Amino acid sequence: MTNGAAPLRKEIEELAVSQIAQVFYAGRDHPRLLPFWFGEGDTPTPDFVKQAAIRAIGEDKVFYVDDRGIPPLREAISRYAMRLHGRDIAVDRVQVTASGMSAVMMTMQAISGPGDNVVYLSPVWPNIVEAVRICGATPRPVSLDATPDGGWRLDLQKLFASCDARTRGIFVASPGNPTGWMMDAAEIAELLAFCRRRRIWLVVDAVYERLTYGTARAPSPLDVAEPEDPVISLNSFSKAWAMTGWRLGWVIAPAWVNLHLRKLNQYNTSGAATFVQWAGIAALEQGEPFIEELRGRLQRARDLVIQGLSRFPRVHVAAPPGAFYAFFRVDGLGDGLAFAKEMVARTGVGLAPGTAFGAEGEGYLRFCYASSEQRLSDALARMEPMLR
Ligand SMILES: Cc1ncc(COP(=O)(O)O)c(C=O)c1O
Repeated sequence: MTNGAAPLRKEIEELAVSQIAQVFYAGRDHPRLLPFWFGEGDTPTPDFVKQAAIRAIGEDKVFYVDDRGIPPLREAISRYAMRLHGRDIAVDRVQVTASGMSAVMMTMQAISGPGDNVVYLSPVWPNIVEAVRICGATPRPVSLDATPDGGWRLDLQKLFASCDARTRGIFVASPGNPTGWMMDAAEIAELLAFCRRRRIWLVVDAVYERLTYGTARAPSPLDVAEPEDPVISLNSFSKAWAMTGWRLGWVIAPAWVNLHLRKLNQYNTSGAATFVQWAGIAALEQGEPFIEELRGRLQRARDLVIQGLSRFPRVHVAAPPGAFYAFFRVDGLGDGLAFAKEMVARTGVGLAPGTAFGAEGEGYLRFCYASSEQRLSDALARMEPMLR
């Protein structure tokens, strides 16, 4: 609080300033900048999506609409989800949101408040933790265990032991950001059974579910859950359809929950931009070839970056099964934030420090490899003197 000013809510004044933003502010003006710090690629949105938005503007799709989202988009999401999960997912379970982040915030607002806690797997995308704090609840980390080969493993018993009578939700991003770790079907079954028994919400962040390697998609609780099960699945057009700047996402929840989420959509954003929603229909209905091509490109990028990083003796890394990040450990890294700032100042390569994703990220750096092979090779060459 500045002198003489009226106070803000304590939780808001105490929100962390993102360490990724701190590196970005330090390095953004580098004359030879190669940025890999944010979770987005260098591919623009595909043309058929852009054209759908332009058409929608031309047709005056510029007015307020239903706060759950326009019916044709909700129907398209329902069809898409049924196609993906092979189960009936009715339209009344679908809500359109103004981004995946907005879906995260609405969900946290719906399930948690002062005195409650939300358990999550760490390292994690920091916005999840701060969303819980904004709601006045306590974020409770459970660390994934680092395996000797550089991968990550979930200890379900540790996760269950960290839940208590005030646990309102278990938040699982699968594939996760920054680790790329992914839940398997057996873990999903156990988690769902636990959440049913304990009446805890299983909140699944599926924004990377289409970006997997060697498998068609990530397993999801929606593959097995009944419509009334305590499962809320969040999704986004940002990653699989290269639409980060469009701010469009969705939620699938039990129908009765959706009626409450509708109010939160109304009072938070009053919904995503109308013409953007029309573009979302094109993405879902014509996007499969684009996603297939993107997955191939990401797999080649992943292999190039993992091979390149593995050649540095101080670096330990495994190929992630999903998402688009190399989250790698560096022997003797020291202060990761300071190291990332020094890296961008000396080489122009912008990375995210591992500690941006929680204490478990100490000793790690995150590299978003959704980029051209030329830029990735250039970055690896520039990083060498600091990682060798
Ligand atoms: C795990 C995870 N969830 C949700 C989001 C939100 O994406 P958006 O708000 O762009 O839809 C991101 C973005 O980086 C993410 O990494």
